[in-house]
Amino acid sequence: MTRYDLVLSPGIRIQTVSGIIDNISLAMRTASIRVVPIPEKAVVGIEVPNSSGLIVGLKGILESAAFENSKSLLTLALGKTTDGSGYVTDLASMPHLLIAGATGSGKSVSIHAIILSILYKARPDEVKFMLIDPKRVEMPIYRDIPHIYNPCTCAADADIITGPREAAAALKKLVNVMDERYTKFAKEMVRNIESYNSKMVETGGEKEFYVVVIIDELADLMIVVQKEIEDSIQRLAQMARAVGIHLILATQRPSVNVITGIIKANFPARLSFQTTSKIDSRVILDMLGAECLMGKGDMLFLPPGEARPARLQGAYVSLKEAEKVISFINGQNFPRLYEPVSAEVERNVGFNADEEKRTRDLIPALKLINERKRISQDLLKANFGGSARATNILSILETEDFITKPEGTNKWQIDYDKIKQYLEETERKACGEKQS
Ligand SMILES: Nc1ncnc2c1ncn2[C@@H]1O[C@H](COP(=O)(O)OP(=O)(O)O)[C@@H](O)[C@H]1O
Ligand SMILES: [Mg+2]
Repeated sequence: MTRYDLVLSPGIRIQTVSGIIDNISLAMRTASIRVVPIPEKAVVGIEVPNSSGLIVGLKGILESAAFENSKSLLTLALGKTTDGSGYVTDLASMPHLLIAGATGSGKSVSIHAIILSILYKARPDEVKFMLIDPKRVEMPIYRDIPHIYNPCTCAADADIITGPREAAAALKKLVNVMDERYTKFAKEMVRNIESYNSKMVETGGEKEFYVVVIIDELADLMIVVQKEIEDSIQRLAQMARAVGIHLILATQRPSVNVITGIIKANFPARLSFQTTSKIDSRVILDMLGAECLMGKGDMLFLPPGEARPARLQGAYVSLKEAEKVISFINGQNFPRLYEPVSAEVERNVGFNADEEKRTRDLIPALKLINERKRISQDLLKANFGGSARATNILSILETEDFITKPEGTNKWQIDYDKIKQYLEETERKACGEKQS
């Protein structure tokens, strides 16, 4: 990509230039032109793609002084800026990252670059990855590295997570891990993982590891278990930074059903590859621009709190390079160890309150279905108020298999037997509780 800087004569507005983008791109025989104001230099930049796409190797950036001098274990080599310098940033300070872009635009390649950046600095006792890959295509190469983590299993069994329900359970459990760490840090009177770990160095105690959660295709999870996934992501995004847990979510469908307001509000750092529409660009970056990118790693990175994104060419890693790094790590025979979440914490913290909130509407909804012998979004809306709440209830009913939508139909099928059984059971339980 080449940037031409235009100095505008007094009185000429930038809109005049952006208004003739199509003419410029026609004249230069190239698509994907972007007009950007550069206030520092008081010029207007016109970014024009080079005809031969230059590949930016990850290795070069990993060997750069900027990467080497960065102390954070979560230093990321994202790519190169338009002036050709390496762009290095720190996941710990983001502290979570949202990635979007059309199919084939470079999301998965960027995820490999992120994982390898971290593997370059961090031992498995320092950083662990919880990898969620519903498409089962990208992550399998990492399954044997000792950094793999799943709080639901013991270390030896930890693997890439692929099923939506398995993912929901693991995220839920990670919320417990977070709560457990908060308790532990409070006991040591420290506020965050950095202070905790330096205290452990002084006292000879055991340090905590960072956890990086990566979801490649969030949409695939949200279709199945939206509410649960969203609840856990929200809690983690709001509180997990201090205890060293960071999230990276990627999706090709940045629609508002997937990147909900709740998720967006908690993910200030955004990375967008080429999107198929202006609307998608707005959802992910809150501005236009991503629809003009070229694909293949051409990206806009919006660091938290900044108004304007940086245009970068994403670092490229081939599968072969990734495999080399992985076999090097596996050759080092690191032990794969971590403590499972204690049963104590699991019982005390976390999801009882959420579970209650979640099922608060369930019983009245089931009674309603039983009474009216039908179910619809409108019926729920009329009885519970709010379409968001109605949608939630529908999704709970569906995940719990009270209602199903047979393939090829658009009508809910209701399992009355199951509903009856459930209502009777809860009634019995409630009575039992009162008596004892
Ligand atoms: N940073 C990059 N540099 C060069 N080529 C890239 C880059 N990122 C992606 N590509 C090309 O685009 C293809 C698709 O990228 P991928 O990351 O799998 O897309 P996505 O996950 O968004 O569907 C890759 O196989 C590669 O050929
Ligand atoms: Mg992909």
